[in-house]
Amino acid sequence: MGVDSSDSGVSVTNELVDFVKKSLKEGASIEKIRRKLLKKGWEADAVDLAINQTETGSTIKQPSFKEEKEIKKYDITSKDIPLTVRIVKAKGEYVPIYEVSLSSIGPSTQIILENIRKDLISKVNLGMVDITDPKKSSYVEDKFFDATQLLVKKYFPAADDFTIKYLTSYMVQKSLGMGDIELLMADAQLEEIAINSSEEPVWVFHREFGWLKTNIVMNSEAQTRHYAAMIGRKVDRQISSLEPLMDAHLDGGDRVNAALMPVSTKGNTITLRKFAAKPWTMTDFIRTNTLSASASALIWQGIQFELSTLIAGGTASGKTSMLNAIGNFFPPNQRILSIEDTREIQLPKFLHWIPMVTKFANTEGRGEVTMLDLLVNSLRQRPDRILVGEIRRKKEAEVLFEAIHTGHSVYATVHANSTQETITRLTSPPIEVPKSMLPALSLIIVQFRNRRTGTRRTFELSEIKENGDPNILMKYDIKKDILQNKNKSSTILKTLEMYAGFTEQEVKGQLTEKETILKWLVKQNINMVDDVGRVMAEYYTDKENLLKTVKKNKKFEG
Ligand SMILES: Nc1ncnc2c1ncn2[C@@H]1O[C@H](COP(=O)(O)OP(=O)(O)OP(=O)(O)O)[C@@H](O)[C@H]1O
Ligand SMILES: [Mg+2]
Repeated sequence: MGVDSSDSGVSVTNELVDFVKKSLKEGASIEKIRRKLLKKGWEADAVDLAINQTETGSTIKQPSFKEEKEIKKYDITSKDIPLTVRIVKAKGEYVPIYEVSLSSIGPSTQIILENIRKDLISKVNLGMVDITDPKKSSYVEDKFFDATQLLVKKYFPAADDFTIKYLTSYMVQKSLGMGDIELLMADAQLEEIAINSSEEPVWVFHREFGWLKTNIVMNSEAQTRHYAAMIGRKVDRQISSLEPLMDAHLDGGDRVNAALMPVSTKGNTITLRKFAAKPWTMTDFIRTNTLSASASALIWQGIQFELSTLIAGGTASGKTSMLNAIGNFFPPNQRILSIEDTREIQLPKFLHWIPMVTKFANTEGRGEVTMLDLLVNSLRQRPDRILVGEIRRKKEAEVLFEAIHTGHSVYATVHANSTQETITRLTSPPIEVPKSMLPALSLIIVQFRNRRTGTRRTFELSEIKENGDPNILMKYDIKKDILQNKNKSSTILKTLEMYAGFTEQEVKGQLTEKETILKWLVKQNINMVDDVGRVMAEYYTDKENLLKTVKKNKKFEG
């Protein structure tokens, strides 16, 4: 059993592909075909493969608009496939077009490839056992790759090894993955990929240019639904007419949300939020003017002395990124626990850290592990610090405050646009914690996304007074694009005085020292999580030595 590329092998999947081809010709919908095949007892993965082999998924359209100006052009590769990206202003289009092209695969080659691909399944004998066992899926991919490669070599006898390899990769992506959508996933400049319906092109959110229309179009609503179902199956979730919404995350950390018709009225939608390959660090934030070195020093001071902190902000304002960045400041000798719905946080790898994620119920409705379950459980794992993805409900908030009261420092995000809104959000339903509990929190960092320019900034940095009211220490001035000092701190200084025994003067000295180190991090361009973490570890274990290096503006040899 397994894969061989001999034409004579009787392929189990041949029968499947023939059925799919025939049904499609007769006008049956993909969904109906799938249902029929599943009823007949075929494994879902085998059915998907057969459908992918027969359908083309999406199409890379030739430009049909009049180009006015090329805004940017760059090359990327997706699993060895060389691609060219052009961002162009087109006549009559309100947003620029994101045009991806397989730079080295000409139209005629593409036609041949498409023929090979459709032909492939009848030439490749994929054993049923192989494709239905999830543990073997990478094995299947390897075997599939090998078989495809043999065919590519046969059809393109003159091609060099490199060409053979990427043509093969391209075909495998089309057959086992999400086709052209995966090409977009390879562009590190894209934050989000959105399929809204098969009537309009796929949209992308570009770091530099915001939302753009691509030249990729889904071929049918059924294809989108099919991709959603494929993703769902990989993560043991179901999406169907009965359960038309799905929130999941892929192996690599990318987040996926899907909503099917008729809930989504225009068409089946899939929104992919790409996982940041390089997590944000404080160095990046200071360098890009997200916040000032002095604001960052204050946050660091708070983290060092175990003050619990909330990070607020609107959707995609950078809350999780900030949570990640403040994780840089943790000392190396403490136990850290993180709880998230999807795995986003990336701390320095040498920290004593246990990352946990919630789990949805499986297709039979069993095995759910909620944020609350994990939070309650975490208290028995003796953490010093607890990071919580997002607080949404009363129970979570209660356990969180309970954790603070029992001596843990807690860092969590909450959806609110300002300090005041954070307080209101926390004290009203559905979270509804009594205001008297709020002083357990020391700091609130509010993140903000400029709706015009798309830039992210720290909007407010506040402390909570003993009566539960906030005191805004720094506030963003949008005209000057700087974070400005507002009110003098009362509570934090008092807390540090009371629990750490520092005078105000000493705290000021420590803040200046921290600011100097942060500026040096920027100057030396130390911006990778592990590297920033190592500098912090040095600070906590051998500060004098670190300061010597910083004062001489030398490289860090830690
Ligand atoms: N300071 C920043 N400067 C530029 N881009 C940023 C900054 N912070 C975050 N981003 C980018 O903004 C996007 C959203 O960030 P993030 O996921 O941290 O936001 P969020 O507020 O947690 O979103 P959500 O509401 O979906 O949880 C990501 O692509 C991230 O890389
Ligand atoms: Mg987030």
